[in-house]
Parts: sequence; C-alpha cells; structure tokens
Amino acid sequence: MFKIGLDLGYGYVKGINEENRRIVFPSLVGTGYKRSLSGLFDRKREDIINNMHIVISGNEGRKEFFVGELARREGRNVSYAFDEHKVNHPNTKALIAASAGLLFPEEDIPVHVVSGLPLEQYIHQKEELKGMLKSYKLIVEFKGYDIVKIIKFEKVTVFPQAAGAVYYAIMGDLKRYLVRGSYLGLVDIGFRTTDYIVFYINDKLTLREDLSGTLDIGMSEVNNTADKLFTERTGTKLDIPELMELVRQDRIFYRGREMNFEGELNSVKYELARAIKDRIKSVWGSKLDFFNTVFLAGGGVKALSGYLTDIYDNTVIVKDAQFANTRGFLKVAEIEGKGEE
Ligand SMILES: Nc1ncnc2c1ncn2[C@@H]1O[C@H](COP(=O)(O)OP(=O)(O)OP(=O)(O)O)[C@@H](O)[C@H]1O
Ligand SMILES: [Mg+2]
Repeated sequence: MFKIGLDLGYGYVKGINEENRRIVFPSLVGTGYKRSLSGLFDRKREDIINNMHIVISGNEGRKEFFVGELARREGRNVSYAFDEHKVNHPNTKALIAASAGLLFPEEDIPVHVVSGLPLEQYIHQKEELKGMLKSYKLIVEFKGYDIVKIIKFEKVTVFPQAAGAVYYAIMGDLKRYLVRGSYLGLVDIGFRTTDYIVFYINDKLTLREDLSGTLDIGMSEVNNTADKLFTERTGTKLDIPELMELVRQDRIFYRGREMNFEGELNSVKYELARAIKDRIKSVWGSKLDFFNTVFLAGGGVKALSGYLTDIYDNTVIVKDAQFANTRGFLKVAEIEGKGEE
C-alpha cells in the first residue's frame, strides 16, 4: 500500500508520503470564488501549494474552497478551525482533500494514511476520526492545474500526535535513547495546543498516561498579542495575512514607516515558554530526575527554543521539528506495512 503521514494541525497541515514528497500549508479555508485575473498567469506545478482553489464533489454535493496560502491571501470568510471538535468541522474535509490531493500516488493504488490527534482528544475522538477517514470518499479538482483525484483511504491508522514525534525522535539513535528503566519525554509546541508525552522504557516503550497530556496554549498566543499591540498602536485591525507577516518578522511596514514589535513579542515568547515549563514540570514532578532525555518538537520550537531548553539538563531539539509527528506517522505506516507482507 502507498503510505502517507498526515498531521492536520490547528495552525498548519503537514504531510509526507513514502516518496518523500512533503507539504506544509496554513490550516486556513475560505469560500472559493472565481478570480478573473488568475487565468492570465502561467501556472507552474511547483506553485500549486500557494494557489489551492479546489472543487470537491461527493455525497454532499459540489463545493469550492480556497485552501492554505490562497485562503490567506485572497479568501473571504477565512478562519482557522479552532473548534475542539475538529473531526466533524467542515474545514477539515477541505484540508484533507487538498493535502491528500497533493500526496496521493500517480497510479491508482490503495493508500494507507496515518494521522493523529492531541493526546486528550485522542482518548475521546480516536474512533470518530478513524471512522471519518475510512468513510471519506470524494473527488478533488485543483482549478487551473488540470489535476483531478479520487481520494479514498484503504487503510487508516490514528495515533496520539506526540507519540508519532517520539518514534521519529528516537529512530536516529536507538542505543542512546532506549535506556532500560529510564523515561523519555517529549514536548510538542503547536499553534493552539502543546502536547507532552512520557514513555517508560522496559522491554518496550510504555506510555505513562498520568505523566502525559495536552495544554491549551501554543504559538497563537504570540499572534493574539501581536494583533492587540498593533490595534493599540494604530487604532486599526490587522487582517490575517499581515498579522502572520508581522509575527514572522517581528515588524511591519505601516503608513510609510516600520513598526517594530520585537521587544514585546520576545517577552510574550518568554512568558509562554515559562507557562509551558511550569505546567509540565508540575505534572512530571520528581519523576523528571529519572528522564533520559526531553525532546522538543513542533513548529513552535524555533521561536521558543531559547527559552525552553532549560526545562531539563538533557534537552534535545528534534530535527525537522515541525514535521516530527508527520515523519513519525509515516514510520508507523512502514512498521504496520511490514506486518502485512
Ligand atoms: N513558515 C514558518 N515560518 C516561521 N514560523 C513558522 C512557519 N511555519 C510554522 N511556524 C511556527 O510554527 C507554529 C505552528 O507549529 P505547528 O505546525 O507545530 O502547529 P500545529 O501542529 O498546526 O498546531 P497544533 O499542534 O496546536 O494543532 C506557528 O505558530 C509558528 O510559530
Ligand atoms: Mg501539532
């Protein structure tokens, strides 16, 4: 079976397939509409991720959406799907159509998808996500690119998000990390949530549920503060595209001059990191002394690592941190695939 790892984050969709094609785009969906100028420009296959105007047809009829960067630039009614219950959110179907459309194989062969949920949602919504993906069947068309694909998953595996990242993190050096009698921790800083997970190592990796959980804080705090600060200073509201740019650069050009927010945003990052450390450390308590390593993963690591690495003596930033879950999911698909052959 053709393998795909898919991480439908609140902030970014990350995906990778067995041919090592990887995609990442903001988890933004807006209503699709006809763009009169769009046909005038030459379209290159590589640009597709920045111009996802998709049409999906299935049991629920035909719908058009702008997804990812295009929604960010030109969308109407654009929103992040911040619902606790993202499994049934209408945007989720559009995000799956777009990402799967880009990651599906050229030939018509069965596909195995591995995806995940934050730990706390995993416990309650695992079966629901699995059921939704299993019954998912529709046709996706990428407007302007001549691409039409049938999206259907032959096999579905749902995994706790951060556990995928642990798999990926230890793979490079099993000897170093699989120390019998010790614990492994991982903190995954995402856009809306921060997951932390702990495994105890004996003959195998045993999940310590009592030491694992999900915090409802993440990098969106930085976006919210940037939004507020801008409004305070200028009296106007920022749209999502400009806000994302401001957060990325710590500054923005407005009315002929550059406004710098670096100082304020750095202190938000510092406070956010402190809140994450305090809350996780209070759960881990004195067990922390028996940890072998604490891994840091997720897209938030880049901005926060400077303030987070002191969570423990032995902290390791996972390579390709934003893709850690996704790569772990692909690994899970490979392991499950071996059992079948
Ligand atoms: N292109 C980029 N440039 C700079 N920072 C980025 C970029 N893409 C993502 N990030 C950072 O990564 C964060 C999102 O991380 P990640 O993709 O792990 O979140 P998520 O998985 O969507 O969220 P959650 O785990 O809460 O569902 C952003 O808020 C931002 O800080
Ligand atoms: Mg995530």
